[in-house]
Amino acid sequence: MKIVRTRAEVRAEVAATRGRGGLVGLVPTMGAFHEGHLSLIRQARAESDLVVVSLFVNPTQFGPNEDLAAYPRDEERDARLAEEAGADVLFAPPVDEVYPAGFATTVHVAGLTDVMCGASRGAQHFDGVATVVTKLFQIVAPDAAYFGQKDAQQVLVVRRLVRDLDIPVRIVACPIVREPDGLAMSSRNVYLDPAARQQATALNRALTAGADAVARGETRSEDVLGAARAVLTASGIDPEYLDLRSGDDLRTLDRVEESALLAVAARVGSARLIDNRILEVR
Ligand code: PAF
Repeated sequence: MKIVRTRAEVRAEVAATRGRGGLVGLVPTMGAFHEGHLSLIRQARAESDLVVVSLFVNPTQFGPNEDLAAYPRDEERDARLAEEAGADVLFAPPVDEVYPAGFATTVHVAGLTDVMCGASRGAQHFDGVATVVTKLFQIVAPDAAYFGQKDAQQVLVVRRLVRDLDIPVRIVACPIVREPDGLAMSSRNVYLDPAARQQATALNRALTAGADAVARGETRSEDVLGAARAVLTASGIDPEYLDLRSGDDLRTLDRVEESALLAVAARVGSARLIDNRILEVR
């Protein structure tokens, strides 16, 4: 696996594969790899001739009081894991390679970004994500790009921006990877002390309670949310949001319908965690 730092270098790698008629897969990441990231790289490996993994802790998607400085960074470990999972190129640019002096453009996806994490983290979060992802698509020009379904809202934002800006890339959303006790894998789980780690399992249990309510025949969003909220409350968690929305466009739903998304974000100990479930309606 090659580690490259500049746009010119990554473009040269991609051009060589394209010249042979090969397919290019991109896995955009901020590093601190866990099984979730590795599953994206493996999926890209299975479907591409060249797998590019970007590793860039994107400053513009962090709010002023968020964990940019503390975000876990270990490029050597990430490079080893990426290579083992099948990456060909690790694109790990410095900040000024992505945002050179005078950088003045923001990609804003309206509507989808006003709710859930957009409301709780502030507008800068998805503007930062949309801008850096657009740049990565311009730099790498992949055939397909791989994202984790844990960031369900991010996946919708990225799908919308490629549609609106006519970027010819296939967006692949890969399933959430969980710890044996159900906690969704996240780079931020390293912030959890043992007590918070135990408390954090309530997020997935709350989603399961919501899904179970639907399986029992509840269809009113209020009731499904009530079942999920009861689990959070019993675990001492006051969520930033617990929401039931359309998994297609995030409009609110009074009743559960096909592809309804039950999503939660909460501070647990010093970590901000998110999780979600697509509800099965019979
Ligand atoms: O999901 C992430 O790790 C980031 O939001 C992404 C897509 C790499 C953009 O910085």
